[in-house]
Amino acid sequence: MTERKLKLALSVYGVGGPGQHSLWKDPRIPKDASIDIRWYIARAQQAEAAKFDALFIVDSQFINATYPAHYLNRLEPLTLLSAVATHTTHLGLVGTASSTYNSPFNLARRFGSLDLISGGRAGWNVVTSFDTGTSRNYGLEEHLDYATRYGRALEAVEVVRGLWDSYEDDAFVADLERGVFLDPEKLHALNHRGEHFRVDGPLNLSRSKQGQPVIFQAGVSEEGRNLAAQVAEGIYAPGEDFESAVEYYSDVKGRLASVGREWDDLVILVGATPVIASTDAEAHRLAREIHEADNDFDRKLAAFGRAFGAYDFSSLDLDAPFPDLTAQAERGGRTRAARIIERAREGGLSLRETVEEFTQYTPSPFIGTPTTVADTIERWFRGRAADGLNLRLRTPDDIDRFAGEVVPILQERGVFRTEYEAETLRGNLGLKLPENRHTVERELAGAVA
Ligand SMILES: Cc1cc2nc3c(=O)[nH]c(=O)nc-3n(C[C@H](O)[C@H](O)[C@H](O)COP(=O)(O)O)c2cc1C
Repeated sequence: MTERKLKLALSVYGVGGPGQHSLWKDPRIPKDASIDIRWYIARAQQAEAAKFDALFIVDSQFINATYPAHYLNRLEPLTLLSAVATHTTHLGLVGTASSTYNSPFNLARRFGSLDLISGGRAGWNVVTSFDTGTSRNYGLEEHLDYATRYGRALEAVEVVRGLWDSYEDDAFVADLERGVFLDPEKLHALNHRGEHFRVDGPLNLSRSKQGQPVIFQAGVSEEGRNLAAQVAEGIYAPGEDFESAVEYYSDVKGRLASVGREWDDLVILVGATPVIASTDAEAHRLAREIHEADNDFDRKLAAFGRAFGAYDFSSLDLDAPFPDLTAQAERGGRTRAARIIERAREGGLSLRETVEEFTQYTPSPFIGTPTTVADTIERWFRGRAADGLNLRLRTPDDIDRFAGEVVPILQERGVFRTEYEAETLRGNLGLKLPENRHTVERELAGAVA
C-alpha cells in the first residue's frame, strides 16, 4: 500500500471573499484581480511550483451591493479554469457549479471539455447553491427546498456520470483502410428517466485520461453528508476546529461502507486560512489585525443576512430580540442559520448581540511560525481531521511564504509529496480510475458467456 500523503488545494479569492472583505485594500492586490485571468494563471503557477493538488474556484450567481468584493465582479469558474489549463501541466482544476441551476447535460459537456483541455485534471465541486436569490435569476420565485435540491444534486451527478461514459475508451478506431471512424457498438445512449431529469444522451465527448472528472461536494447538513457519502470523491469541509473536523471526518467516512464504498474513495479537504510570521506572537497579532480590518458593524450586519436569503437587517431595531427568521432560513444556509437562531433564542440575545457573537474574533487553527503551522497541519492530517487542506491564502506573498517555508517542513517529515505522482487530478489524489461502465458490462458478459 502506498503511504498516505497530505493533499493541498489553493482557493483563490481575487479581491476578497467571506472573511476577507477588506482584502481589496491591500496594495499587493490589483483592484481587478477577480476578473483578471493573468492573476489566476500566476496564482495557479505558484500552486503548481509548490506541487499542490489543485486550484479551487468557489462561486455564486447572486449579488447585491453589500456582497464581498470578490463576489461583485468575478469570472465564471469553467471559463476561468479552461484558460488556466493551458498554462499549467499537473495542477488539478476544480470548479464550483450548482446542480440546482444547471442542466446535467450542460454540466457534463462543460466539465468533460475542461477535462480534455487539461489532460485529465478537472474536478466538479457540486453545490446546491447557498444564495437563495439565485432562483430569481432563473425564473423561479423561490429557491428549491433542501430535499428537492439535494435529490436533484444526487440525480444530476448520476446523469452526468452516465453521460461521461457515452463513449468507451476505444470507440474511435479511425481505421483508414476500412474507412471506419467510430465503432458504433462503443457508443451508448443514456435514456435516463428520473424524478428530476429526462436525458437521452449520448454526450458528444469522449473520456479523458482520468476517465471522468473528480466529483467534489461542499455542504454540511445531513442531506449534504449523505450526498457526499454516496457520490463525492472529494469534500470541501469547513473545519472550524480540530474536534469538530474529526467528528465530521469520521461521520462522513463512516457512511461510506453502507453504500459499498471504501474510506480511501473520498478525500476530505478542510478550509484553512493560515497566517504565518517569524514568531507565533507576531502571527497572532497579524491575524487579529486582519480581523479588525473587516470588523465594521454595518458590513457585518449586511453579511449576516446571507444565510437568511440575503435578508436586509438594516431597518430593524438592533436592540430588539433577534427576529424569528426560521422561514427565511429554511431554504438557504439552513445549517448555519439554525445555529444562529438557536443560540439567539437560548441566550435571549438582541440582533446586535447575535451579530457580535457570531462575528467575534475566532482565530484560525493555522496561525504561527512555519513550524507551528506545519505541526498543526501534521496533527490534523495524522489525527484524521482531514486528508488535506483547501488553503485560503490571501496574497501572492502569502502563497510564496507557505510554499517556501511550510511545504519544505511537511516534505521533510514525509507528510507532503516532493514530486507529483501522476499527471491527472485523480492520480494525484490517489483516487481510482473509474472504468467505463459499458466496458465493464461487456467484460462481465464475456466472462459469463
Ligand atoms: C466549505 C463550503 C463551501 C461552499 N462553497 C459554496 C460555493 O462556492 N457556492 C455555493 O453556492 N455554495 C457553496 N456552499 C454551500 C452548499 O452548496 C450548500 O448549499 C449550503 O452549505 C447549504 O447546505 P448545507 O446546509 O448542506 O451546508 C459551500 C458550503 C460549504 C460548507
